[in-house]
Parts: sequence; structure tokens; C-alpha cells
Amino acid sequence: MIPEMVLNQIQERLDIVELIADFVPLRRAGRNFKANCPFHEERTPSFVVNPDKQIFHCFGCGVGGNAFSFLMKFEKKDFREVVEMLAEKTGVEIPKDKAENPALQKRIAQSLEANRLALEFYHDFLLNKKEAHAARQYLESRGIREETVRDFKIGYAPESWDGLYLALKGRLPEEVLEKNGLVLSKKGGGFYDRFRARLIFPILDAKGACVAFGGRVLDHSLPKYLNSPESEIYSKGRNLYGLFQARKAIRENDSAVIVEGYMDLVACHQAGIVHVVASLGTALTEEQARIIRRNTPNATILYDADKAGELATLRGLELFLEQGLEVRVVRLPDGDDPDSYVQAHGAQALRDELHNAKSLFEFKLDFLKTKHDSSVVEGRVRIANEMVALLGKVRNEILRAAWLKELAGHLGLSEQALAAEMGKHRAGERASRFSPAITPAPVVESNAAPAAEKLILGLLFEGKDFLEEAKNQAGAEDFHSPVIRKIVQRLFESPAASVNRWINFFSEDAEAVKMISLACAETDHAADKKRVFSDCLLVMKRSRLKSEREGIRSQIIRAEREGDRNRISQLLYDLNELNKRERQTHEKK
Ligand code: UTP
Ligand code: MN
Repeated sequence: MIPEMVLNQIQERLDIVELIADFVPLRRAGRNFKANCPFHEERTPSFVVNPDKQIFHCFGCGVGGNAFSFLMKFEKKDFREVVEMLAEKTGVEIPKDKAENPALQKRIAQSLEANRLALEFYHDFLLNKKEAHAARQYLESRGIREETVRDFKIGYAPESWDGLYLALKGRLPEEVLEKNGLVLSKKGGGFYDRFRARLIFPILDAKGACVAFGGRVLDHSLPKYLNSPESEIYSKGRNLYGLFQARKAIRENDSAVIVEGYMDLVACHQAGIVHVVASLGTALTEEQARIIRRNTPNATILYDADKAGELATLRGLELFLEQGLEVRVVRLPDGDDPDSYVQAHGAQALRDELHNAKSLFEFKLDFLKTKHDSSVVEGRVRIANEMVALLGKVRNEILRAAWLKELAGHLGLSEQALAAEMGKHRAGERASRFSPAITPAPVVESNAAPAAEKLILGLLFEGKDFLEEAKNQAGAEDFHSPVIRKIVQRLFESPAASVNRWINFFSEDAEAVKMISLACAETDHAADKKRVFSDCLLVMKRSRLKSEREGIRSQIIRAEREGDRNRISQLLYDLNELNKRERQTHEKK
């Protein structure tokens, strides 16, 4: 992975017009530049370069993207290779991989050594020093035994400003201590301890080396936990707290339980439930999923009820599913976290909860039912659409088929229709994951994408206002095209950023890059962008209503054939509701 900062630096020093002009003769056309496309045969130019957005697009063959995408395609190289080429051209330095950089290796060794010494210092302080009396009492009040303190090498950072600094001074270079976040530099020179008057939880890597610390206050002051910063030896999203102690048990149980916090993990472990790791309060990452997948295919999420119900959590769980994990979810009673639950109800009760974990399928279905009204068709269709997207990610075909059947039964929708809808998702995803970026893929999807959705997408890159407006008016699931939906989903979840950065984000996904450049190229000339945007939103909503109407109609026909009167009257009611909503969209105009 090349750090985003490096990509930005390169792009700041680079002009796409100059870059492309080195290979293709460009002619000015208004604000833009045009050329005969270098990627397909043509006589009239349909290849456009946009200097404001620093992107290009060919209306003839559909190729597009930013400067990196252009070189990938032109030189038939992968993302990393072109970034390296352009880094050299612009004089930006890409941080070297650890293996080939002896200076870095030395810094890492020193950093780990510093942490080892710090861990000993904190741990010894907690166990033996008079000044740690309150900390020991605090742990006791939370039911943590000394044996557990030793297992997890829990420590205490004294209240002084330089207890640790003085203990490590002279043994390791000060930059090392500062870089891995043990000390902070003072304005006038000198250093002071980062962790003061806090319980210390060392975070170990898979080999048991300490890569970071988390420190908890003993009272209610804030922040409750202070953590080591990201560094050359520590990256939050690539570690799981407790893995070193849990790994054997995870393999033996052939299952891993994921909790959120330090105390949750320690309490589970102490209660004899050892196959547990903690994600430490951040959204779950793909890297964490892979770590677990290396040890077991079964993951159970054990978060407090609020956290489990969050959209970000669900998204993380879908990442787990994509990594081939079978994911189950426990929803603890409101107000409990695993620590408080096991302390109050004991290990057996927690084991029972784990045993009764819901499949991600059930869990998401429940979640969606709280979000959409499943008593009306439109609500059920929305639920179906989101569920189908989830099912598309299940790798096991038997499981997928079983869930599909269950979903159809549950929502009273036809299994074939759901299967067809799911086919679209799977086709979209396969294409994006496996299509090599350098071979021209046909532009089938892009052409088929409804025009309004494409224009909306293009305008979403025009700034925060459009993005906010779209988020208020629609959900990602309102977009019919799978590629657009995939892109919009990411956009909706993230802070606004330039198109250029989004193209980097999707750099390995040729289909998405094409769609983004197409959408931007198409909206480029719109005179009244606000107007186009609101019109397109309306068109999209209406087309959504139209397809719902068709769905209801065909169900009415079926119900009539089957003579199911109750169903007919329910459907007529739904149809009426739909008409009402449709009238509203007309009134708004
Ligand atoms: P919680 O606020 O749920 O705390 O944060 P907790 O784990 O239940 O801790 P106790 O029981 O009050 O001691 C969950 C996790 O989020 C991270 C920590 O990893 C914490 O364990 N977190 C939370 C932080 O990093 N910083 C904070 O200020 C708060
Ligand atoms: Mn807690």
C-alpha cells in the first residue's frame, strides 16, 4: 500500500494535460482538451482531458480516469508501477518497504525494544509500587485478578510527568521514544510522558512483541482511553488486541469471538472464554478479517447493543463475509457490554449467548426491519434489495441458496425475482474484482446505466452540497446500476473528497473508474447543475416508483389467478399508497 499522502503529493506536482500531451497531441476545446483516443481507432476526437478535475474520458471506448489510470492503460502497468514512475518524475519519495531498508529495520527494532522496556516499567510499577495502590484497587473493584494482570502484562503509568522518560533516557534515542508515542516533545525542548496516571494495556503483535499501548483513566476524566499513535510498528486496523493470548484457543474452538474493548477482552479471558480478540473501538477492517480467517472461518461479533446496531458495524461485518468468514452476531441486552455482562451473569450465561448468536443474515434482516416499514410493499422491496446485496457476498452457494429461499418466504416476494436481482450484484462484483485494469473491457454496464443516476453521480463530485442533498433524499440502494450503487455507497459513507482521490481509491476497480470518469465527463457541460441535479433525483425516484408499481401489478395478477382476496386487497392498498407518494413527487416540482 502506498500512503495516500504520497499519492496526493505526486498529484499536486503533476498536470494531467502535460502528462498526456507527452504521448498524444492535444487540442484545446473550451476549458478542456481533445484528442483522437490512443486506446481505440477513431477519426473524430472523442477523448477529452479535463484540467480542472485532472481527469480524462473517452466517449468512444469508455476509458477514463486520472493521471495514474492513463499511464496504467498506456504503459500497460499496474497501479504501483505507475505511481513509482510518476514519483520519480515528480521527485516525491515513496517510503521503502521494511525489508529493503536497513535504516528502517533498525528503527523498528529500537522501537520494539523501547516498548518492551516501557511495558516492564509499567507492569512492575502496577504490581510493586506504593503509588499504584489506587490502580490496584480500581482493578479489584472491576473484578480483575492479579493472575489476569500478569497474563496481559497490565501496568500502571505513574502520575509524574517524566517517570518513564527518565527510566528510558540514555537507553534509546529520544526520536525513537517520541516516534512510537511513549513521550511527547515540549515546546521549549525536552520531553514528557504520554501516559500519566493511567492503567496500561499493552497491545502485542502475533509474535508477542509489544507494538502499542492503551491507557485508561481511573476516574471519569476524558479521554477515557488514550492509545499509542499509528507508527512504523503499529497500525490500528491491522491489529487485534489479545490475539497473541487467544490464538491457540481460536484454533482449538475453530471460532473467534470479537469484542470491542480492552476490558471486555480481559474479562472474557478471565472468565475462561479465551477465544476472544478485541477490535478496540474502530470499524472492523479487511485486514482484521484476514487475520481471523487465517485462524478460523467462524467469527462471532459480541458488541454492546448500540454498537452492534450501527451501520458502520454492519459494513465491517460484510467485509468479514467477503473474506469468506461465516459471521454471527450476539446482541447483548441494552446497557451491557461483554465485561459487565460476564461480571454480572457469569461465564455460562455468556457462553449461552454465544451459542445463540444470530447469523448475519438474520441480524441484518432484523436491522432493516427497524429501518424500513415491512408492512408495505415498498418497504419490503427496499429490505429485499439490501438483503440481496448482502447475499451476493456469501461465498458458499448452498448457504446462499438457503438464505435466498428464506428471504423470499419472509418478505412474500418471488424467489426467482430475488435470485435475478442477486445475479446482477454478483456479476457487478466479479467484474470489478477480477477484471485486470489494463485490458479494455467492453463498456456494456456504463451504457446501460440509467442516465439520471449517472448524472447524479457526476454531480456528487462537484462538492459537499450535492453530496449532502443526495444523502438526504436517497439511499445508495435507490441506485439501480450496481457499479453506481457501489460507488455511491462509499461516497455516502465518507467525507467529501476530489474525484481524483476517489479514482485512486478505486484504482484497482477498472469498472468503477470508468463509470466515475464517464459521469464527470457527462456532467461537465451542464449549465445549471443544481437544476440538473434536482431533476435527476426526481427522475430516479419516479423510476423507482414505477418499478415498484410494476412489481405490485404483477403480484396482483398472480393473486387474482390464485383467488387470494386478502392479498389482493393488501396489494391494492399498497398501490394506493404508492400513488400518493408519486403525486407528492409531482407536487414538489
Ligand atoms: P468503551 O467506551 O465502550 O469502553 O470503548 P469499555 O471498553 O467498555 O471500557 P470500560 O469498561 O469503561 O473500561 C470501547 C473501546 O473503544 C476504545 C477502547 O479500545 C475501548 O476499550 N476507546 C474508547 C478509545 O480508544 N478511546 C476512548 O476514549 C474510548
Ligand atoms: Mn466496559
